[in-house]
Formats: sequence, structure tokens, C-alpha cells
Amino acid sequence: MRLAELRRGWMLIIGVFLLFMLAGLFSAKNGRKTASRTTSGGTSWLSSNWLSFSQNTDTITKHPITTLMKDAKVAFTKHLARQSKTLPEAVAEYKSRYGRGPPRGFDHWWEFAKERDFKLVDEFDAIDEDLAPFWTLSGEELRRRTYLLGHLPSITLVRIQDGNVSDVPIDKAYVDTELGYRSRGFRELLENFLDKLPNMDLAINAKAEGRVLVPWEHLQFPNFTLQDTSDDMKKMLDGFTPDWEGLGGVWEAYRYTCPPGTPARQLYGSYRDPNVGKPNARLGNSQVSDDPFAFVKSVDDEYDFCENPWAHYAQGHFFSDWRTIPVLSPVFSPSKAKGFADIRIPSHYYLGPSASYTYAYDRFTEHVHVNEIDDMEVPWDRKRDIIFWRGATTGGGSTPPGFTPAYQRHRFVRMAHESTTNNVTIVHALPSRPDTFISTTVPAQEINNDIMDAAFVSAVGEYPGGEEELRKVHRFAASVPLGKHWSYKYLIDLDGMSYSARFMAFLASDSAVLKSTVYKEFFSDWIQPWLHYIPVSSTYSEIYNIHAYFSGPSASTMAAANVAVPGTADWEAVKQERDAQLRQIAKAGKQWKQTIGRRADMEVYVYRLCLEYARLSADDRDAMSFVL
Ligand SMILES: *[C@@H]1O[C@H](CO)[C@@H](O)[C@H](O)[C@H]1NC(C)=O
Ligand SMILES: *[C@@H]1O[C@H](CO)[C@@H](O)[C@H](O)[C@H]1NC(C)=O
Ligand SMILES: *[C@@H]1O[C@H](CO)[C@@H](O)[C@H](O)[C@H]1NC(C)=O
Repeated sequence: MRLAELRRGWMLIIGVFLLFMLAGLFSAKNGRKTASRTTSGGTSWLSSNWLSFSQNTDTITKHPITTLMKDAKVAFTKHLARQSKTLPEAVAEYKSRYGRGPPRGFDHWWEFAKERDFKLVDEFDAIDEDLAPFWTLSGEELRRRTYLLGHLPSITLVRIQDGNVSDVPIDKAYVDTELGYRSRGFRELLENFLDKLPNMDLAINAKAEGRVLVPWEHLQFPNFTLQDTSDDMKKMLDGFTPDWEGLGGVWEAYRYTCPPGTPARQLYGSYRDPNVGKPNARLGNSQVSDDPFAFVKSVDDEYDFCENPWAHYAQGHFFSDWRTIPVLSPVFSPSKAKGFADIRIPSHYYLGPSASYTYAYDRFTEHVHVNEIDDMEVPWDRKRDIIFWRGATTGGGSTPPGFTPAYQRHRFVRMAHESTTNNVTIVHALPSRPDTFISTTVPAQEINNDIMDAAFVSAVGEYPGGEEELRKVHRFAASVPLGKHWSYKYLIDLDGMSYSARFMAFLASDSAVLKSTVYKEFFSDWIQPWLHYIPVSSTYSEIYNIHAYFSGPSASTMAAANVAVPGTADWEAVKQERDAQLRQIAKAGKQWKQTIGRRADMEVYVYRLCLEYARLSADDRDAMSFVL
């Protein structure tokens, strides 16, 4: 009796909360990033049903996805072509971008990059962005903070000294749960240029999550007043516990990184009236009903949570159990969400080989795998037109508890579930007029059956109502080896506790990668959405229409549109052309992985980062600069 009551209570809380959240997501989706969002152009097309771009025979090229793909290709080609060709050019480009000369050792770095045929020699804005706040600290203070960081749980102090690199053993107040794979991965990346590096210490994050959230007031330029001092750092260390211990949470800390006056800084400003500006707001149990025909130009790694605080409920990392560090301090992490002050380095998972994160893992090993079929290249024509995802319920912590249902993976798995009760609007071409698109309302159940195969394979962490409740509303299926993923044309990559480390393997796989993320990684500026992968918004609402574009209307869409499949030559040609476009994305992704996402490229990145960091750590930064 009590249990049932408790459960009803939970469901009510979840229900009310989801309504608020979805309303928020919807209204924000319409307003956000307008400059970078492409829509169909018409404002009221949903009510007009027909979406005719024009009567010309070439109207197919007017689909927003065609344009996005074309623009992406042009942008990336230009990007590649404008890279510096010589060291003096690279130095000049550096100076014009960052207003100072490059760090000492830049010439050796340049040779190293050239030897490895590194393509994007000028594209290191990520390093400049991550290191910018640390120019306000002296070298001495930076070294001091690094040393203090080494005493925190799940931070490994890595020391580069006279051409050697090692972890510095430090007695910590808390026994660490992490095993130091991340610092080992980092040390491995240095092997090929270690003898060229100046001495320095670096604080490597042993966790996947970002660690540093500095209040906005402490990070103002150029007036930075060093409001957090070494004393603050020491004070923080004295009281530091690995988890929140019931006091605060990531979102509480995050809010203070926002500029004063933004909605996130208002104590009670987190919820949005669900009906503001949305007279016909549809509050369903899924994200898909609102804006199914708006495609994002890029992933949501610039999404402004300060302006849209309600949206934080949809991302698990704001509920992480790990305490963040509130003082400006140089922590090297595999990814960062906007607002975090971590410094990006490549994830150790990308160095492989490992069964969970490496494409063609078996071929790296000496022995023949028991079941070779698990990891076979699948020819494109044998891949299925299905959007595939398998994973654990990983995706955040439980500080505070009760919000798990809205985390990124849970939302996706529920949306793709075969018992979802809403309808989806599909915009698709017709066999009789392949150059014209119409919209058809299709029951989500049916289209999910046609094109979605998403399930959890294991449950970790809490869920309101317990695991029984979790399993009731989410699909669970048997675990699938990474190699089995290649049987599907569409692989969607979703964030977990932090960035998703499967991205590199997915790119290499000859399947097309759909990616939704709020994190930036070291390579974020190097990869081109809509060329190497398909970016998907945080609500995933456009994913059905991405599929409808490339793979054509599914059986249930055709049935709902009441159209027979005639199999005319025109229609087949159009379908093949679209399929070829999808395959092009798969191929370009693989090409990217083999030419820009290699281990060598990660080494080039880390080499340059180390030179920059050595200069920052120095007492005399000018003396550590490169002069041509
Ligand atoms: C580097 O480490 C190796 C092995 O631990 C040691 O033999 C060598 O002397 C060290 N080199 C320097 C310059 O410290
Ligand atoms: C920087 O300092 C100047 C002079 O003290 C002051 O007028 C200005 O408002 C400050 N800017 C910021 C962003 O705090
Ligand atoms: C879905 O569409 C059908 C047919 O148009 C309609 O009867 C039904 O009410 C819709 N369901 C929802 C949840 O909107």
C-alpha cells in the first residue's frame, strides 16, 4: 500500500516535471540559435500539409538537407585549402589569430606535424580558448594550483621532466575510485616527442566528467582581479569531498558561471510557463511532435544553458555526483560542456585498442576471435536502413535524485520505443512526384517499428520507482558487440556521463553517424557536421525526417499517406540518389577518421598544447616564446 502510494507520487512528480520540461524544450527550440538553424522556410507549412518548394524538376535540391550537405562540403574544402603551407605562414597566422607569437619549440612542432601529414595546421582555437583564463595567473601561481590539484580525488599529477614522464605519487585524503587510465593514455600520447618538451606538471582528470566551474565574477577580462587566490584554493582543498554530500550540485555550481542577470542566475527562474507564446502547445509524452522539420547546423555544444536554465533537466551531467572545483585551476579533461573551464585533451579511449571503443578491434589482436562474424565489415547494400542504438542507462548521477527520466539517453530510448502513443509528422517525397515533398502524420509506434532499433542493455544508477519502473517504460535488449553495429546504416551516438567515446569507432565503420552532444572535444573544430556526420538536436525531434530524406518514406508512412509503391524508374532513381548521399556521409566520416582523427593527429594536438602550457607555467613567458 505504502509502496504503491510512493510510486504514484513519483509518477506524478515525473509527469508534471516532464510536461514543464518538454514545453520548455519546445519553445526554446523555436527561438534558439536562429542564425544557425535551417528550417523549411515556410512558417505555417504544418497546417498547409503540402510543402512544395516549387514546380521545377530540380526542386529536390531545395530540401534543407541537400543545402546543408552542399554547404558543409564547400566550407570544409575551403577550410582545408586555406591552411598555412610554411612555417613563416603558420607563425603569421598564429599571430593574427591570437595576438602573440607561438610558444618556444613551435618549429619542431611544425616539423612533427608536417612529417605526419597533419592537415589542419592552423586550427587550434580550442587550445587558445581553453587556456585563455590561465594567462591571468602567473606561471608560479599556475604551478602552485597544479600541485594543489594533485591532492584532489580523481586528479593525477603527471610530471614531464628531462625527457621522462611519470605520474607523481601523492597521498590523498580520499582513496580514489578511478584507476588512472586517463593519465596513462595521456602519457602514451607524448612518447613520440617527449624529448622535445620542456619540464612541466599537468593535472589530468581521471574522470570523464568536466571538473571546473568558476563563478562568472571571478573570470572577467581584462579586469580579472584574481578574486580566487591560492588561499581560496587551499581553503577549498581543506573541505573538499569527492561527492556533494547533500550540499549543492553541478547545476548549482554551474549557475554561478552564468553572467549576472541571465535567467540561470535567478533563483526561481528555472521553469518557464509552458504556454507562453505557444497557444497550441502540444504537451505529449515525446519530443517529436513540435518541430520535426528543423535541422541543426551543428550539435548543441554551444547551447546556452544560462539563457535556458530549464533545459538543464534534459542533460545528465548537471546531476553528476562528483563535486566540481569552484576555483580557476588547470584540469585536463577529455571533453567540456560550455561553461566549464577544463582544458581538453584526447580521450584515452581513442588510443585503443579496446573491444568497446575501437573499430575492427579484432584485427588488432594476434588471435582469431571466437566469433569472427561479430566484427565484419558489412557492405553498404547489406546494411539495414535502421537507426540503431544500444547502451547502458549511463548519463548522469543522482544529485539531486529523481530526474533520471529526462536524461539524454532515457529520452531517446523512450522516443524510439514501439509503444509510444503520439504521432510523428513525416515530410517525404512521393513516388508520383519525386520532386515534391508532402507531410504525413504517422503513428510513432508504427514508424518506430519501421526505422528505430534502440534499447538499453544494462541499468546503472537510480531511477524513480526503481529498476522495475525503468524497465516498464524503456526497452531493454541483449547487449550487442560493437562489431554488430555495422549492420545498420544509421548509428546514433548519444552522450553518457560525459562525451561518448564510441564516436571515433562509429566514424570508422562505414555507417553514417548521427550525433547529438552538448560537449566539445579536442577535435570539435576539425570535423564538419553534415559532411562527416549528421548533427542532431538535443530533442532528436528531426531524426524521423532525416531518415525520411535519405531512406524515403517507410512502409507505415506510405500507408498513412495512402500511397501505393509503384516502383517507377524515377522513384527508384531518386531513392538511390538519396541513399548515395547517406553513403557519402558514411564514407566522408571514415575518410576523416583515417586522415584527421588518427592517433598521429591527437599527438600533434597534445604536442602543441604542451608547448603552450609550458610557456604558461614559466616564470618568464616571453623567454618561452618562439622567435622565427
Ligand atoms: C628517465 O627514466 C629512465 C628510466 O626510469 C632513467 O633511466 C633515466 O635516467 C631518466 N632520464 C632522465 C634524464 O632523468
Ligand atoms: C574594468 O575596470 C575598469 C576600471 O576599474 C572599470 O571601469 C570597468 O567597468 C571594469 N570592467 C569590468 C568588466 O569589470
Ligand atoms: C494521431 O493521429 C490520429 C489520426 O489522425 C488521431 O486520431 C490521434 O488522436 C492522434 N494521436 C495523438 C496522440 O495525437
